[in-house]
Order: sequence, then structure tokens, then C-alpha cells
Amino acid sequence: MHCIFLLVLVGLSVVATEKLERTKLLNDGNRIPIVSFGTFGRTIDIAEKVKPAVIQAIKSGYRHIDTAALYKNEEAIGEAIAYVISQGIIRREDLWVTTKVNFDATTREEVLPALQASLKRLKLDYVDLYLIHSPINPLSSENGMHYLDVWKGMEDMKRLKLARSIGVSNFNSSEINKILVNSNTVPSVNQIEVNPTYTDLELVAYCQSLNITVLSYAPFGFMVPRPYVADPTNSTFEEPILVKLAKKYGKTTNQVVIRYLVTTADALPNTKLLNDGNRIPIVAYGTFGKTNEVEIIKPASIKAIEAGYRHIDTAAVYQNEEQVGEAVDDVIKRGIVKREDLWITTKV
Ligand SMILES: NC(=O)c1ccc[n+]([C@@H]2O[C@H](COP(=O)([O-])OP(=O)(O)OC[C@H]3O[C@@H](n4cnc5c(N)ncnc54)[C@H](OP(=O)(O)O)[C@@H]3O)[C@@H](O)[C@H]2O)c1
Repeated sequence: MHCIFLLVLVGLSVVATEKLERTKLLNDGNRIPIVSFGTFGRTIDIAEKVKPAVIQAIKSGYRHIDTAALYKNEEAIGEAIAYVISQGIIRREDLWVTTKVNFDATTREEVLPALQASLKRLKLDYVDLYLIHSPINPLSSENGMHYLDVWKGMEDMKRLKLARSIGVSNFNSSEINKILVNSNTVPSVNQIEVNPTYTDLELVAYCQSLNITVLSYAPFGFMVPRPYVADPTNSTFEEPILVKLAKKYGKTTNQVVIRYLVTTADALPNTKLLNDGNRIPIVAYGTFGKTNEVEIIKPASIKAIEAGYRHIDTAAVYQNEEQVGEAVDDVIKRGIVKREDLWITTKV
């Protein structure tokens, strides 16, 4: 059966001996359950297997269900949720439901009907998290930066209280940057592939520096069969390091992998010690761009700092130091940061 999959939030602030928190605070104030029941799988399993699997998952203690319009299983999940609520197993407010707007939505106006259709299938009044499934449509040859307009639609959904939190999925740092510069809302979540066999720690660190929670999909990576992706690693749960750790802690190797995901962030510092004793923020906001667009550098740099960047990179040759300077002056005067909390790089 292809529906009992896991998603795991990457990076909780825990030390190895502490009990793990069950939820994590998002940048919008909501608390998300850290382990999710993923429901992506074979279409032929939807009719018979998804509903009982979701019911069993909730009975077993899962409080976060992950789906997407693309998975074509929202209706079965809606039936499962209605069942567990009607049986008094759980209240709606104790459950976290994530779904995603499909690749084919390319405008702000398409988001509301897309979410309304998902809500109807899920038999819910609101979802807890609504994500843009991907910045590009992998099924289309024509790909612009539609996600900037779609993101405005996502903000509408939050304003309308149809989605408690909004976020993105499969976005890289440059795509997130564009959202930050062109909107007023920092995504709460970026759902991306992270696991011991495929770990883009730079992107994880980047998201963390902006207080964007990383939700790992394919948490077992190439240790389990991947129907759509070729395996470059030959990884298995029998990896000697996993087996050694499992023995040491009296756990299964699967549990070691899940623990790796929820504690990865502890290994990721926000700053790095230079050989001169100074600490440099590892993620910088780069300002190089077209000279005729220099006027966007000031508002963009302000937004970057407001969003959490503490390192701005410029250069004399970029001809934008004046705009960067005005942005820095603005955020300091407004008490957003102190001068000593910012790292400015420029170049002769
Ligand atoms: N946003 C996105 O673009 C995106 C992309 C991919 C996934 N997702 C979400 O993330 C969820 C998880 O992703 P995934 O399905 O790729 O993750 P996964 O949990 O890493 O892989 C699922 C596969 O692992 C197998 N498996 C699970 N537990 C196992 C165990 N203990 N030992 C051996 N094999 C085991 C499953 O087998 P069975 O088939 O026997 O259960 C299934 O084939 C999806 O369901 C979906 O909700 C999102």
C-alpha cells in the first residue's frame, strides 16, 4: 500500500536527551504537529485504502494529515476525517490538515476556487496549511513566475480565514526571495525533500534564517523504493552507521532517521566563526541586479531585513550602496535591528 508515508518537520530545538515537542511554533503564531501522515500514492489505492488508512492513522495518534489537490484523494480523506469527528475520536480543532494548490493555478483569482473545491472535497470549512505545490508546473513547457501572483491569492486565503497558515513547497532560495520582495507575508513553511540521502542543508539553513519551517517529504529518501526517481545511492536501512546508532539508542533504524530529521537544525548554525574572530551570518541577501532596477534595492533590502536577513551583500560596482545604506538607516531608525546585529559586505 502506498499511503502510509511520513512527513517530518526539520529542525526542532531539542537536545538529544529531551523529550521531543509534538508541535512547532510557526512564524504566524500557529502550532503545527511535527510528524505528518503523508497520503501521496497510487491512484488505484485511493478508493479502497486511503480512507481506512487515514482513520487508522488518526486513531494511532497522528494529528497532521498531508494531502494535495494533485493526489486526487481529498474526498477519501474528507470522509475519514468526518468519520473520526462523528465518532468523537477527535475534534476538528485538534487536527492539522495540509493541502496544496495545484500546479495549473497560475493567477491570484484561481486560488479561491481551487481552495473552495479542496474544502468541499475535504468536507472542511478551513485548512490548517495551504501550500503552493511547486513554483513551476512540471507538466507545462511554459513557465513564468506565476507563483508571485498565486502567492497573492494565498494571502487572500489567509485573510479570508480559509487557511490558517500559508506556505510553499519545492521552492529554492531564489524563488522564496522573490516572494519576500514582492509580498507582505513570509511563507510559514517550505515543504521540500530532506532526508539522509538527499539533504540540501544550505536551503534548510536559509529557510531557518528566515524563520520558515522546513517540512521534509520523502523522509526515508532512497532507503525505500522511489517510484518516480532513479536511485543514485544504493542506500538501505542496513547502513552500518544507522545500525550502529540504532543499537546505541535501542531504536530501529527508521526511528534514527526520523530523529535525524527533527534535530538536524541543531547542527546548523546561523553564523560561522571567521579566522579573525568575527561571526558572519551564513545566509546573505545578495543585491546584484540590473542598473535600471536600482530603485527596488531599498524596499527589497528593507523587506529582507524585516524578514530576518542579517547579512546584506553589495559592492561599489553594483551601484546600489546608496540604496542599501538608506534601507539600513531605515530599519535601524525604526528599531527593527541594531547596527551591531547586521553584517554588511561590500567590495572595492
Ligand atoms: N510537496 C511535494 O512535492 C511532495 C513530494 C513527495 C511527497 N510529498 C508528501 O510527503 C509524503 C511522504 O513522502 P514519500 O511518500 O515520498 O515518503 P517516504 O515515507 O520516504 O516513502 C514512502 C515509501 O516508503 C515505504 N516505507 C514506509 N515506511 C517504511 C519502512 N518502515 N520500511 C520500509 N519501507 C517503508 C512505503 O512503503 P508502503 O508503500 O509499503 O507503505 C513507501 O513506498 C507523501 O505522502 C506526500 O504527502 C510531498
